[in-house]
Amino acid sequence: MTEGAARSGPLRPIPTFTLGKPAFAAPKESFLPLPHCTTHVLGMELVARKGRVVLVGAGPGAPDLLTLRAVRALEAATVVVHDGLIDPAVLDFAPAARRIDVAKRRARHTLPQDAINALLVREASAGETVVRLKGGDPFVFGRGGEEVAACLSANVPVAVVPGVSAALGAAAEALLPLTYRDLASTVSFVAGTCQALSEQNWAGLAGVGRTLVVYMGVTNAAGIADKLIADGLSPDTACAVLERGTLPGARIVRTLLADLGRVVAAEAVVSPALLVIGTVAELGRGDAVLKDLVCAS
Ligand SMILES: C[S@@+](CC[C@H](N)C(=O)[O-])C[C@H]1O[C@@H](n2cnc3c(N)ncnc32)[C@H](O)[C@@H]1O
Repeated sequence: MTEGAARSGPLRPIPTFTLGKPAFAAPKESFLPLPHCTTHVLGMELVARKGRVVLVGAGPGAPDLLTLRAVRALEAATVVVHDGLIDPAVLDFAPAARRIDVAKRRARHTLPQDAINALLVREASAGETVVRLKGGDPFVFGRGGEEVAACLSANVPVAVVPGVSAALGAAAEALLPLTYRDLASTVSFVAGTCQALSEQNWAGLAGVGRTLVVYMGVTNAAGIADKLIADGLSPDTACAVLERGTLPGARIVRTLLADLGRVVAAEAVVSPALLVIGTVAELGRGDAVLKDLVCAS
């Protein structure tokens, strides 16, 4: 580790560090909270060495939302460990790689997270170049943090390639800006199923000037609406349900908070879908079934 220029400012100088290589070999402790006054400049060191794990965000569904870095990582992979809902066209970027499907379904995990962590470590330790392909972004409700921690604990080199998270991809497709001058200057992402709703503290996350995006909230939409109304949110708050964002058959369903549960059921909305709650949910395209205009000929 080499010491770089110290920052100046009204507070005491903050030393900056440039990490020497290999960043991958960082000990477990480096994943623990860092001292608050140090800055680490991280390089993307996808060096050509044997035995490593690269967590890759595959984006919300449409294969052409993969990043170039994701494609390069897939091309270099010898093993791809992937979730469900990954388009075959994405896997095709790694034609020679061995594929391992660890698809998860709500309440029925094909492979428990601990077993996935162990699998990644085992394959990389055997010298494989492992791509762990995950929907959206690995660090947004993707358990990517746990997989990184497992690799670091085992001294397995690990890197993360970000992906377009579902909220960003689906909102863009629907022309629904999650922030908008004078309408919403705050946006929050919450998980509708991570814990019992009563244990979740969403106070202050929704309301005037704010947008709340709920991942994994479809099956519990009525309970989520009740919780927000009980927390003081107006029953008239606009809601948009973005179903199958960027995938064939993508839909946008609009309603008011008081009717959210009923409308989700009546429209037979299925996962994957997001709930967008706030004034911005009134914006965007008027057509219910969304079509890809970017690549249309
Ligand atoms: C386990 S979370 C994974 C989120 C992912 N890591 C991301 O950044 O988008 C799965 C949830 O993401 C949302 N989701 C994923 N893909 C989606 C899509 N194409 N359209 C709408 N929501 C989607 C749904 O709420 C789904 O239940």
